Amino acid sequence: MAFSFNFDVQINTKEPSDADSREKNRIQIQPDRSTDAEDAVNDAGLRVKQAVEHNPKSHPSLFEDSVFETFCVGSLPPLHYLNETVFETTTSVEADSEKILSQTAALNSDLISGVYEGGLKIWECTYDLLEYIEAEGVSFVGKKVLDLGCGAGLLGIAALKMGASDVHFQDYNSTVVDRLTIPTVLLNCEDSSVEEDDGSPSSKKRATDLSQHPQFVKCRFFSGDWAAFLPLMVNSDTAPKYDIILTSETIYNTAYYATLHQVFHRLLDPDGVIYLATKSHYFGVGGGLLLFQKFVGERAVFGMRCVRNVEQGLQRHVVALSFKK
Ligand SMILES: C[S@@+](CC[C@H](N)C(=O)[O-])C[C@H]1O[C@@H](n2cnc3c(N)ncnc32)[C@H](O)[C@@H]1O
Repeated sequence: MAFSFNFDVQINTKEPSDADSREKNRIQIQPDRSTDAEDAVNDAGLRVKQAVEHNPKSHPSLFEDSVFETFCVGSLPPLHYLNETVFETTTSVEADSEKILSQTAALNSDLISGVYEGGLKIWECTYDLLEYIEAEGVSFVGKKVLDLGCGAGLLGIAALKMGASDVHFQDYNSTVVDRLTIPTVLLNCEDSSVEEDDGSPSSKKRATDLSQHPQFVKCRFFSGDWAAFLPLMVNSDTAPKYDIILTSETIYNTAYYATLHQVFHRLLDPDGVIYLATKSHYFGVGGGLLLFQKFVGERAVFGMRCVRNVEQGLQRHVVALSFKK
């Protein structure tokens, strides 16, 4: 899988130091946001992408023209996902209401800061974290889980299939949640009932309304900037505290560290754990493990330990964070 960054923006390679300037860095780009939902305003008075909860209903057209693949890691349940190339070429202009497919194609980029944060692809650290979960026998039984920056949602889906009581999926882009995350979760709910000989979910089941499926009703879906997602969750009647937060390839931009840290701080259960998978360094973007480790260390809220290193190609890591006692 090829990855490209085209940050046609002021790239922030400095250490994060001041919240206002961080926000300004990311809001300076002015790509086409004309179709965005109304944005929220953050503490610094700057606009950030509004956070909303999606209330999905399964519909036959969710799977129209889709091609599925299956990823298996040892003893983990098989995880089905949409072939990204087919997905990109078959998604209609109407479905791309945020124009993220057209803009990524035009800019030849997998990330456009403040517009599209990369959720339409499955990034390789997702696989590292799944392998870690399998190797260490991480238990999700009865746990409240957040897949933060979920993209397709494979991490949350694994938790769901392994017995989590609640799984919440969050992505920056509403198009990603509607067109990729929700269909992928539904696809994986389907497979608990009917499978083809090759192990893929049966096309016969695809037209069925799955929204009341016992696995699917454990899920909630959110889109928007973390700066808007956090107040949405904290102010809700059922403000959750998560036992486990799973997050992959979400620390590439130092401009986001402050809000990401706040999300962790406010939404993690006091005895909870965050599993974060990341590359060592994101060339061309500026973030990476060392800068994030320094940021977390300075706040002294979480203890952080590296639990897995992958040395092939660009160095990658899985780290675990939990509250300092
Ligand atoms: C590179 S993608 C990784 C997607 C997925 N976790 C994976 O590994 O395949 C980064 C994800 O982080 C999320 N993200 C990044 N910055 C964000 C922000 N400021 N607010 C909300 N979400 C953000 C987006 O949802 C995006 O899908």
